[in-house]
Amino acid sequence: MTIIRDSNRVIIFDTTLRDGEQAPGCSMNLDEKLRIATVLEEMGVDVIEAGFPIASNGDFEAVREVARTVKNATIAALARTARADIDRAAEALQLAQRKRIHTFISTSPVHMNYMLKMTEEEVLQRTIDYVGYARNLTDDVEWSAQDGSRSDRDFLCRCVEAAIKAGATTINIPDTVGYALPEEYASMFKDVMTRVPNSDKAIFSVHCHNDLGLAVANSLAGIGVGVRQVECTINGLGERAGNASLEEIVMALRTRHDLIGCTTGIKTEHITRISRLVSTITGFQVQPNKAIVGANAFAHESGIHQDGMLKHAETYEIMTPESVGLNRSSLVMGKHSGRAAFRAKLKELGYDDLGENAVNDAFGRFKDLADRKKDIYDEDIVAIMDDEVGRQ
Ligand code: KIV
Ligand code: ZN
Repeated sequence: MTIIRDSNRVIIFDTTLRDGEQAPGCSMNLDEKLRIATVLEEMGVDVIEAGFPIASNGDFEAVREVARTVKNATIAALARTARADIDRAAEALQLAQRKRIHTFISTSPVHMNYMLKMTEEEVLQRTIDYVGYARNLTDDVEWSAQDGSRSDRDFLCRCVEAAIKAGATTINIPDTVGYALPEEYASMFKDVMTRVPNSDKAIFSVHCHNDLGLAVANSLAGIGVGVRQVECTINGLGERAGNASLEEIVMALRTRHDLIGCTTGIKTEHITRISRLVSTITGFQVQPNKAIVGANAFAHESGIHQDGMLKHAETYEIMTPESVGLNRSSLVMGKHSGRAAFRAKLKELGYDDLGENAVNDAFGRFKDLADRKKDIYDEDIVAIMDDEVGRQ
């Protein structure tokens, strides 16, 4: 199989069920994983990493069932560069229509010295041996250099070259601890792709953690220099501060196609639905101001913004709510709201034939209430208006 890297199609590799589940307190049962996997498939995710089969019998079962159920997406299973891990991953993937073994080993000095207690040569040899071993079991093999962004560049290049030679079709260089800055991460990929002679035989992949809040920026920086797979999770779930969020990456690629020029196969109208499903299942609430899927992502409160929105949505929205599966944006009534939004709200509530004085009076009373009360509901406005109409 020849992989064309200059295509502008970015492969979306979702790891909500594996790295996402590694968020403390976020474990999911088999049925929950199947429900999430089904929606991921429906929305057009290319690769679903379903778990780490050697980690537990539960993980093994989950990978097996997801592999049995999902027909269109490739199912990936994680494995260290070790025979037992790879055998278990292959066994769990047996029923998959499309399967990928994702094998990894750390390449940074700190991980090799303290965690693996291995030399560079040993890590290199394991990469060669176990990528080759996995490749005998399936023709879709991903190799990851854990903590790749903090690795010695010459050594990283040697490992990448060896992994490709041994049969890896995807090379993932994670920013495991969320340490890299966008330019630095992009230049690492550029350097590795240039220096490794056979780099065009593999798809390069980003996998970014969010410890400095840069996971999405780093992922996009990688795409900017030719990376064509992004590993990400719904709602940015994952170890510590989480992974790059799928919805942010996909919507950034869609909204700024003018500048980035890349596409994905994601049907973005499913984004709100999957975000809510993952949040309900894991019990991890989405912060209100979270990009794309937060409750306030399409809500406007200030008078100036509301006035703009009533005149033309593009004044304060760079994507439509419908494009992420929301019915509409909302004008939230609060102390910053202006007269125009108040009038629109009155109309929506059926008060559309009031005189100017009545509206002004009601608006003043609404502002007084908003100073005292954090959340103003439609019922509060109805109460003000009933009182107002009674006074007339
Ligand atoms: O963050 C990381 O490096 C990982 C690897 C196992 C791919 O999750
Ligand atoms: Zn990770």
